[in-house]
Amino acid sequence: MSGACLLTGAAGFIGSHLADRLLAMGLTVAGVDNLSLGKSSHLATAMQARTFKFQELDVNDYPKFLDFAAEVHRQTPIQTIWHLAANSDIQAGGSNPDIDLCSTFLTSFHSLKVAQQLGIPEFVLASTSAVYGAQDRELTEDGGPWFPISNYGAMKLASEAALSSALERFLQRAWIFRFPNVVGSRATHGAIFDFVRKLRRTPHELEVLGNGSQEKPYLHVSELIEGMIHLWTSSRERLNYYNIAPDRGATTVRHIAEETIRVVSPQASIRYTGGDRGWVGDVPRFRYSIDKLKASGWCPSLSSDEAVDRAIREVAAENPV
Ligand SMILES: NC(=O)c1ccc[n+]([C@@H]2O[C@H](COP(=O)([O-])OP(=O)(O)OC[C@H]3O[C@@H](n4cnc5c(N)ncnc54)[C@H](O)[C@@H]3O)[C@@H](O)[C@H]2O)c1
Repeated sequence: MSGACLLTGAAGFIGSHLADRLLAMGLTVAGVDNLSLGKSSHLATAMQARTFKFQELDVNDYPKFLDFAAEVHRQTPIQTIWHLAANSDIQAGGSNPDIDLCSTFLTSFHSLKVAQQLGIPEFVLASTSAVYGAQDRELTEDGGPWFPISNYGAMKLASEAALSSALERFLQRAWIFRFPNVVGSRATHGAIFDFVRKLRRTPHELEVLGNGSQEKPYLHVSELIEGMIHLWTSSRERLNYYNIAPDRGATTVRHIAEETIRVVSPQASIRYTGGDRGWVGDVPRFRYSIDKLKASGWCPSLSSDEAVDRAIREVAAENPV
């Protein structure tokens, strides 16, 4: 591995863990983030590395983004763009579609334009289970066509399409990783994060959106990072696209609520708002096939419940009373 990585969304939950991991591999990492959802404190470890550069900027401010990338590229040629910047508040994107157009799609579009302009050969896109929409069957990478039910999922699927076209025109190799729900320290959103913060504010009652029966696979961020690095360093196709998810099980929202209460505020009761979805556009349950991931020679070791239980402790410790 040589050259630099350009990482968008570097101060976010997953981006900051990825920055730490790429730096630990001895790589130069140039991170950008507009800090709309991420936090500069997430980069405390990365900032200590000599080979880390960070610029607070909006990826959609294309001239500024290109200038920064070009300057990095002059010093150490950028080999790979890891594109993680996006809107992670799916619910907000339901009521205001501009959010996902700009934060989820246009950030992909502008990151691809930087790759084209500077001749950067590799591109990794953080995609999502939301591209699949609501499906009753086990989700395999190749079973399309896909019909997303959220703006977020639609704009991620559009980003996958833009990447595919870029591969035909100028990229040499690309990766699309479709994450399930990712959990762990530095979370900026998600059920665990929301429940911990709600319980800190109102220790006697936890409001839960839906009826608690939503059931999805949860992956610990440490395993997501290992999986992505494994696939990035070992894949040989021009376009490499994978589901990355735990091998065992899925976790209900009821389990997350009960376990968070046990850890954070054992006297609290749960108030479900009702209905089988948390909000419009929420996919209430899905099952992922990870046969392709396993065939690549790597598989997560934590079950979905184990990942959730570990993450609850981490997020609770980061959000004290
Ligand atoms: N966390 C999950 O469960 C999950 C699941 C599926 C996919 N993903 C994808 O993984 C990636 C990382 O997600 P995350 O959970 O770390 O979310 P996050 O919100 O913590 O990280 C995204 C980062 O992008 C930054 N950002 C947003 N718009 C930007 C812009 N225009 N310019 C510069 N920076 C901008 C935000 O400030 C934030 O730091 C995203 O692409 C997300 O869609 C996450």
